[in-house]
Amino acid sequence: MFKTESYIQRRNQLKQQIGSGLLVFLGNNESPMNYPDNGYRFRQDSTYLYYWGLELPGLAAAIDLDEDKEIIFGNDFTLDDTIWMGPQPRIKDQAARVGVKTTAAFKELETTLAAAVEQGRKIHFLPQYRHDNIILLSSLLGVSPQQLNEQKSLEFAKAVIKQRSIKSDEEIAEIESVFDITYVMHTYAMKHARPGTVEHEIAGAMEGIALAGGGYIAYPVIFSIHGETLHNHHYGNTMQTGDIAVNDCGSASPGHYASDITRTIPVSGKFTEKQKEVYQIVLDAMEGGIAKMQPGVPFMEVHLHSASVLLEGLKSLGLVKGNLDAALAAGAQGLFFPHGVGHMMGLDVHDMENLGEDYVGYDDEIKRSSQFGLSGLRLGKRLKPGFVATVEPGIYFIPALIDRWQAENKLSDFINYDAVEKYRDFGGIRIEENVVVAENGHRILGKPIPKTITDVEAMAD
Ligand code: GLY
Repeated sequence: MFKTESYIQRRNQLKQQIGSGLLVFLGNNESPMNYPDNGYRFRQDSTYLYYWGLELPGLAAAIDLDEDKEIIFGNDFTLDDTIWMGPQPRIKDQAARVGVKTTAAFKELETTLAAAVEQGRKIHFLPQYRHDNIILLSSLLGVSPQQLNEQKSLEFAKAVIKQRSIKSDEEIAEIESVFDITYVMHTYAMKHARPGTVEHEIAGAMEGIALAGGGYIAYPVIFSIHGETLHNHHYGNTMQTGDIAVNDCGSASPGHYASDITRTIPVSGKFTEKQKEVYQIVLDAMEGGIAKMQPGVPFMEVHLHSASVLLEGLKSLGLVKGNLDAALAAGAQGLFFPHGVGHMMGLDVHDMENLGEDYVGYDDEIKRSSQFGLSGLRLGKRLKPGFVATVEPGIYFIPALIDRWQAENKLSDFINYDAVEKYRDFGGIRIEENVVVAENGHRILGKPIPKTITDVEAMAD
């Protein structure tokens, strides 16, 4: 948790952005896995954490903008709760840690909202993504669950996005603190992914490292010799000599700030010449993209620059042909790189995605493209100091996509399908760093994790 003053200051800043009405915040609840008492590990809602700091199920909060009042709703533990889960400070005492003086039982949320509805006041709430909270809020506001999110407050969501997008020094320090664990996760994989090892041995050990470090995994580990499947969560393959494994994983801090790092590693310890060629192109694309990052530069340009480096490299391998500016404009890179080069990162690995990806990543000036590949770019707008984003280009050979494009003869002025065929079984390579935008440029976050061919290979010695 941050110091009390930080939470007070965050709420004050929010209040200044929104004129009037009642701001409602719902925390998350326990989520059952297979029966009510056997739950997934509790994860608080990130916006709740940002403004109210408390990591407990069964909480809500409200800010009455017209009366300048703040309240946390939640129930103190009963004796039965204490017997099963141990003692817990009273809600009142927990609220004091984040500078809130008024608390009430959770059922008072209903009374508060009923009064606001009765008085015809504006009730601001954020888009809801947990089914129990959708049902709760629907019933309190008298709206059908299917229609609840149509009534979300865009003004509230945009104000939160504006504020959470700029990471404070203490947030950046917390993000940076998790990289020591992420380093251990990635270097463990580099040392232990060997022929005969099954992917789940590595994926499970890395998850254990994150938990043993006192934090969490920031998102389900992606570890696969089939890296051409972008988010591959199947860990059942036995690795063989000649395979390369995409390892996309990161730890999150106890306060839930994420890291999101990808490396691609040779299972036999050494890349083949063919793998080295593709790897170096992806590394150049990542470093070229990062070099562009500074305040005022649209992240769309970072994406397009990385894509142009990929195209240039693919042309040198004979996979792409023709004029590269024209190929970029036509989207030929989408066959090999069908995703965006990065996204905002913070309390969520895809930061604030639940508030609306287009509001987080785009604005009135820069709109999302509809072009295949580029349409997956989650962040396009101009960078500002304090933004934290991933930069993660890749080259993938996805048989189903190659077949589709070839059958359509798609962009055949730019793609040499005969040459692509020779890479059909290649898999995929992605390399990723996390970057904070500074007043005069940028900084790559965290303890450096090996990424050059020489350094990655040296980890296997
Ligand atoms: N690293 C996983 C993702 O960006 O979705």
